[in-house]
Amino acid sequence: MKKRILTGITTTGTPHIGNYLGAIKPALKLAGPETESFFFLADYHALIKQTDASLIEASVKNIALAWLSAGLDSEHSNFYRQSDIPEVHELTWILSCSAAKGLLNRAHAYKAVVAENEASNADDDKAISMGLFSYPVLMAADILLYDANIIPVGKDQLQHIEMTRDVASRFHAKIGKTFVIPEAEIQHQTMYVPGTNGGKMSKSQNNIINLFLPDKQLRKQIMSIATDSTPMEDSKDWKSCNCFAIFTLVADEQQIADMKDKYERGDYGYGHAKQALFELLIDKFSTERTRYNHYMNNLSEIDEALAIGAEKAKVVADTVLKRVRTKVGY
Ligand code: ADP
Ligand code: TRP
Repeated sequence: MKKRILTGITTTGTPHIGNYLGAIKPALKLAGPETESFFFLADYHALIKQTDASLIEASVKNIALAWLSAGLDSEHSNFYRQSDIPEVHELTWILSCSAAKGLLNRAHAYKAVVAENEASNADDDKAISMGLFSYPVLMAADILLYDANIIPVGKDQLQHIEMTRDVASRFHAKIGKTFVIPEAEIQHQTMYVPGTNGGKMSKSQNNIINLFLPDKQLRKQIMSIATDSTPMEDSKDWKSCNCFAIFTLVADEQQIADMKDKYERGDYGYGHAKQALFELLIDKFSTERTRYNHYMNNLSEIDEALAIGAEKAKVVADTVLKRVRTKVGY
């Protein structure tokens, strides 16, 4: 049987070059003809952070556009929206009944909020919904519902995959073997893409570069990259420069060597470096940007792709859920 690759992105905010280089591109690379792939938009997970449905909807569209523009072949993969397969909730509940609360107590995202509460002398449970607490169980159901073997994710998601394995194993110990135990495929050499302010580029921060913006707006985002105040004529430290760091993630060796040289020689301002980054992105991502424009002019194609994807994914989900129901005795 072909190995199944599965991954999802939470639909909060606008996708950026970090999501593209760190998640979308490596997942598509892993999903060759010898695999079956499942790529989905985690819009139920989005509800934990976002209750404005119109913002979730906008993010669904933008993230779907990013996957399709990156070259996702919706005919030969299962590309769907999490909420189109509500069966995931039945599995979430069944898994919740064998998942240990103690395991979930250790989830990083939950612990981070508890730590913030402790630091500010607030009640431990302040601002913690059951959704945030059981996030890893919904994620386990996302994976187990499709008998997925390999889950390409960033390092930040590794704990969730380990929890999925733990929850499935506990279920097996209580009820008998039912699920495929998945493995994480961590993108070790995945780039950490810094944001325009130097922190991690993130949908939830105002520091992104969105590859699909029209030229003028893309250039504006690039020009907003924070740099130091070394005068134009002086030599510059490429090692600590944010613009240089982003440039190296996309440029080839020769282009990187040339850029280093310009930084060291001086008489080369950050404005020049930013312009070079802008031109590089326009050049390297011209195919993706063209596809993006195509989908923007044919938005119904996105809905069609997701509708077909949901139909296909539902067949798999129904088969697995039936197996689980039989196992638990329903
Ligand atoms: P964000 O922080 O932008 O909300 P998510 O947490 O939704 O991103 O992550 C979606 C995927 O994109 C994950 O696989 C994550 O590892 C990857 N990713 C997010 N930001 C970056 C970044 N700055 N550099 C590299 N990969 C990233
Ligand atoms: N938690 C992941 C993120 O925020 C998104 C996600 C939800 C996911 N379900 C998943 C990723 C299942 C991989 C597999 O990036």
